[in-house]
Amino acid sequence: MSDDDAIVTRRHYRYIAEHTRGDDPFLSELKQAAEAEGIPKIWISPAQASLMQVVLKLHRAKQVIEVGTLAGYSAICMARALPPGGLVRTIELNPKHADFAEQWIAKSDVADKVKVLRGAGADVLKSIKTGSADACFLDADKENYPRYLDECLRILPVGGLVMADNAFAFGQLFDEVPSESGVAAVRRFNDYMAARKNVHAVMVGIGDGCWVGVKEA
Ligand code: DHB
Ligand code: MG
Repeated sequence: MSDDDAIVTRRHYRYIAEHTRGDDPFLSELKQAAEAEGIPKIWISPAQASLMQVVLKLHRAKQVIEVGTLAGYSAICMARALPPGGLVRTIELNPKHADFAEQWIAKSDVADKVKVLRGAGADVLKSIKTGSADACFLDADKENYPRYLDECLRILPVGGLVMADNAFAFGQLFDEVPSESGVAAVRRFNDYMAARKNVHAVMVGIGDGCWVGVKEA
């Protein structure tokens, strides 16, 4: 089949969701509590969580860095894909979000596998030792994605796994007059990823588009 024949509709997305593991009661409760606290409902979809878990398992990832914790949903999902002793270090700038995530991580089945690092992504990433992670997931402010990618590529070894959320720019990738301010930044980042010689990456059409890539020499 050529790309021109591809048809992925909303119906396919629904179908994918119906044939993929959904949230367990704990994650449903976390989302309800996050909503009640006014945290924006912009977490990844359960299908995207499964995609990332499968990729992390195949990669046998042990040490993950996430930029943008929000409510802790994706950090908990990723931690569940790690072996014993694995760790997700997740970076959050917003103290309210960091507090919420820490509370829920502490109550979760992966309390010992997730650590919240408070501060701005660029600053915290700079403090992380080269070679100390084998996977990363970008899901914070879109303007700084290129900076986050550069810093993560410093930290990751060759063969390291790179993932990034919102490649489809909140569904507004092709809008001429987007309402979301981050759309232009996402387009710039997508071009930046595509042009990088040392990352072999592809956008996967799950959720709002998820970049999955491998660092090359
Ligand atoms: C926004 C950010 C995200 O990371 C996301 O997944 C969806 C929306 C936003 O800033 O609006
Ligand atoms: Mg996102």
